[in-house]
Amino acid sequence: MRPSFAFACLLFILTLFQLTAFSFSSVQAVLCHDDERLALMQFKESFVIDESASAASSYAYPKVDNWTFQGVDCCSWDGVECDQISGQVIGLDLSSSFLYGSINSSSSLFHLVHLQKLNLAHNDFNYSVIPSALGNLSMLTYLNLSNSVFSGQIPSEISKLVRLSSLDLSNNWDPSSFQRLLELKMPNLKSLVQNFTDLKHLHLSYVDVASPIPSVLANFSSLTSLHLGHCGLLGKFPLPIFHLPNLQTIWLVHNLGLTGYFPEFNFTSQLKVLALLNTSFSGELAASIGDLDSLEFLGIGLCNFTGLVPSTLGNLPNLHFLDLGRNFFRGLVPSTLGNLTKLYHMDLQNNSFTDELPDSIRNLISLEYLDISNCKFTGLVPAMLGNLTKLTVLDLGNNLFRGELLVLIGKSLFLSNY
Ligand SMILES: *[C@@H]1O[C@H](CO)[C@@H](O)[C@H](O)[C@H]1NC(C)=O
Ligand SMILES: *[C@@H]1O[C@H](CO)[C@@H](O)[C@H](O)[C@H]1NC(C)=O
Ligand SMILES: *[C@@H]1O[C@H](CO)[C@@H](O)[C@H](O)[C@H]1NC(C)=O
Ligand SMILES: *[C@@H]1O[C@H](CO)[C@@H](O)[C@H](O)[C@H]1NC(C)=O
Ligand SMILES: *[C@@H]1O[C@H](CO)[C@@H](O)[C@H](O)[C@H]1NC(C)=O
Ligand SMILES: *[C@@H]1O[C@H](CO)[C@@H](O)[C@H](O)[C@H]1NC(C)=O
Ligand SMILES: *[C@@H]1O[C@H](CO)[C@@H](O)[C@H](O)[C@H]1NC(C)=O
Ligand SMILES: *[C@@H]1O[C@H](CO)[C@@H](O)[C@H](O)[C@H]1NC(C)=O
Ligand SMILES: *[C@@H]1O[C@H](CO)[C@@H](O)[C@H](O)[C@H]1NC(C)=O
Ligand SMILES: *[C@@H]1O[C@H](CO)[C@@H](O)[C@H](O)[C@H]1NC(C)=O
Ligand SMILES: *[C@@H]1O[C@H](CO)[C@@H](O)[C@H](O)[C@H]1NC(C)=O
Ligand SMILES: *[C@@H]1O[C@H](CO)[C@@H](O)[C@H](O)[C@H]1NC(C)=O
Repeated sequence: MRPSFAFACLLFILTLFQLTAFSFSSVQAVLCHDDERLALMQFKESFVIDESASAASSYAYPKVDNWTFQGVDCCSWDGVECDQISGQVIGLDLSSSFLYGSINSSSSLFHLVHLQKLNLAHNDFNYSVIPSALGNLSMLTYLNLSNSVFSGQIPSEISKLVRLSSLDLSNNWDPSSFQRLLELKMPNLKSLVQNFTDLKHLHLSYVDVASPIPSVLANFSSLTSLHLGHCGLLGKFPLPIFHLPNLQTIWLVHNLGLTGYFPEFNFTSQLKVLALLNTSFSGELAASIGDLDSLEFLGIGLCNFTGLVPSTLGNLPNLHFLDLGRNFFRGLVPSTLGNLTKLYHMDLQNNSFTDELPDSIRNLISLEYLDISNCKFTGLVPAMLGNLTKLTVLDLGNNLFRGELLVLIGKSLFLSNY
């Protein structure tokens, strides 16, 4: 009995091996579906290849160059991704591919109904309206039409794409004037995104939104990055958004109509980038800002912040960009800022700081940019600035310093108004 049992086992193992080998080779052999190959070729043919269409990105090249009528396996074409088992086209990345021309809802692109990822960023769609048929690609989790010269109202059909985890329609501006081309009025921001509960990335910079940020965003616990610069935002920034557990980037620059203030922060925050330049945020910086362990970028210049700068700001070990300029801060600049040794950019200009710049600034050996102009600093010209060997921009203008800048001779620095 034993030998035959062993033989049976061997046979079984051999069969298993063959089966595995067979299924492996059959996966390799799956070709793309004819109708999808045709749709892709028609999509390619609907554009002109023009280098200036992707001039903004340095790594651009025409990915569709190796799409040919002879090539049967469209799954091996550049930028095309197929499901390994069904062979259906599930991803299309034609970002930065020199595509120039118009697109509408009749495009063969919309025959690719299994698409989960679509990236057409950094091309030139010649002021086309975003096709409403995009709303029929119901499997989409990733949609990226940034920087690709789309114009007009964003169609309401996009709001049907409830699986989206990433939506990027940013930077659709006129290539010659940098004027915003896209609008989000009907639907508005709230009705567009309210059902996107899995959203991680919402990038709509340079879309004319002209409405408040909907508070429903505070329910999107996966939200990681929020880019809404130059959107004409209005109203108050919903405070609970700051407490989203996965949020890393808040980019709201150039929205003068947007008001808000900071909450009490806490150690659980993942925030890396907090950019509010040229908004109407106001209030004081609470000491708890020092709890933002991960913070790398704090840009709150040209806002309405008031009060003292808390010494806890020096507790942010990863901070490399700090802009507190053009606010209503007053009092002493805390010496703890000398602990921010990764800082390469520090802008304190146009505040009502008093007394001397702290000596500890000499420790900021990574500084390339330092603007402390139009404050009320007194004392001798801070000699230690001479040790900041990486400085390329230094503006000390319009303060109450005494003494000479001899220590700086030999550097090619920008010294305005001194
Ligand atoms: C097309 O180009 C991509 C990227 O260079 C390459 O991986 C792929 O094998 C090419 N496909 C064909 C059919 O030449
Ligand atoms: C771009 O749009 C203009 C104006 O509508 C049109 O004349 C031109 O033919 C379009 N170019 C392409 C490549 O579609
Ligand atoms: C869509 O674009 C195609 C090709 O440019 C054009 O032939 C067709 O008339 C357009 N359809 C609509 C509804 O504009
Ligand atoms: C999109 O779906 C709607 C409703 O199912 C349908 O009427 C329309 O023809 C579809 N559009 C395209 C371009 O497939
Ligand atoms: C969209 O695509 C561009 C170009 O590939 C890329 O830089 C950008 O990060 C993408 N956006 C998102 C949200 O992935
Ligand atoms: C969002 O979902 C709700 C319930 O599922 C639905 O009634 C509503 O029409 C959806 N809104 C949009 C804008 O799709
Ligand atoms: C957030 O979700 C909760 C629970 O589902 C709901 O009660 C609340 O209305 C939502 N908030 C907003 C602003 O939609
Ligand atoms: C810190 O924030 C988290 C998330 O918002 C919250 O659950 C926690 O209670 C907060 N802890 C303190 C001490 O405030
Ligand atoms: C501030 O943003 C507004 C738009 O909200 C813009 O018009 C203005 O030029 C910006 N100011 C500066 C100094 O960039
Ligand atoms: C911000 O400050 C400017 C200049 O002082 C002032 O005109 C504006 O009303 C302030 N905005 C808010 C929201 O406090
Ligand atoms: C931060 O700076 C202050 C004042 O310059 C100093 O007393 C303190 O020891 C520093 N802390 C750390 C962690 O380096
Ligand atoms: C500047 O650096 C030199 C040598 O690296 C050191 O001797 C000197 O004390 C420093 N000066 C200041 C003001 O920190």
